[in-house]
Amino acid sequence: MTDEDASAETERDDERGDGEFVFGAVADAEEASAATAADGPGVVGPSPGLDPGEALRVQLDAIEASDVDAAAARAAGDVPGCVRTLFDFAAPGFREAHGDLDGFAATFLGAIYDRLVGARTVERGPGERDGDRYVQAVLARHPDGDRTYEFVLAEQAGGKYDGCWLTEAVDMTYDGESPSFRRTPTVTFGDRSVTCEVGDQLRAVLLAADGHSPHNDVTQVANCGGNGLCGTCAVSCDGEVDEMGDREQRRLSLPPHETESGLRLSCQTHVQGDVVVEKGGGYWGQHVEEVGVGGEGADDGDGDGAVDGDAGGGDAGVDADALVDPASVVAVTDAEYAGEYDYGTDGPGTAAANGGGGR
Ligand code: FES
Repeated sequence: MTDEDASAETERDDERGDGEFVFGAVADAEEASAATAADGPGVVGPSPGLDPGEALRVQLDAIEASDVDAAAARAAGDVPGCVRTLFDFAAPGFREAHGDLDGFAATFLGAIYDRLVGARTVERGPGERDGDRYVQAVLARHPDGDRTYEFVLAEQAGGKYDGCWLTEAVDMTYDGESPSFRRTPTVTFGDRSVTCEVGDQLRAVLLAADGHSPHNDVTQVANCGGNGLCGTCAVSCDGEVDEMGDREQRRLSLPPHETESGLRLSCQTHVQGDVVVEKGGGYWGQHVEEVGVGGEGADDGDGDGAVDGDAGGGDAGVDADALVDPASVVAVTDAEYAGEYDYGTDGPGTAAANGGGGR
């Protein structure tokens, strides 16, 4: 950033009246647009353009990006940026239950939520959407011990946040890593998706799904039984799988396979997360051109021929600026932070709905 840019940013911050970087909503759509262009990723708030998973991801990213000592912040009366972001994405009723931003912060810096806002990393567990409601398990990794929380988001109907997914409740559901947090990856093969356990052998998962097999034609029965020798169970994998071992590398270096094909032997591959599987043509499934593998996306370029979760996008976080039109971000106003806003009288398109006085 140039000195000129820095000066301009300071001036903008001063106009907001708090002199600090704003991770949450900004005062109005025009300012949101200007601030986003100048500040880059990070300036985002509730928007009808965010789906529930994205709205939650913004909040979790804010927690991971911060380094909060909850007890110290509470004693000092500070409101960390991630708590402000949680408030920005809190539904009106959830905010009102705490009075104002300071009351909200006192709760989230307290004994129940201190390991959430102070978490070093946060992981998402099973999530479920049912109409206008979305429930997501979140595991907060904290130096003093992990805790599992459950976020409940709801799509708002009417009012200034019409169409936005906002948090209606955050509950601590387990002191530690909840057993229900166990991941159940989805394996998609053709038009069929099945769930399995992390670490399951991919060939076994496919064979267990009726009507699906990693083998073509006669190799359905004429194969090595999953010992990594015949090479007929080769498939393309796009998603989270383990790294290739020596046995698999050896077999895939022999004709008709080629190491560069990006294929995996499903009997030597273990599921680590969601993965999309395709089978090529030919006796061994070696005709990679028929499934479009071997080019971009077939190999993450790390030399192991595997595609890992990061390479596939995985849970790498949300660049919210890329997801929403900054003009669609709904500003949170000073009156809302102060607990003085009447959500019963606002509505889409009203002056209150369009912001003003935000920070
Ligand atoms: S079944 Fe023979 S290599 Fe996988």
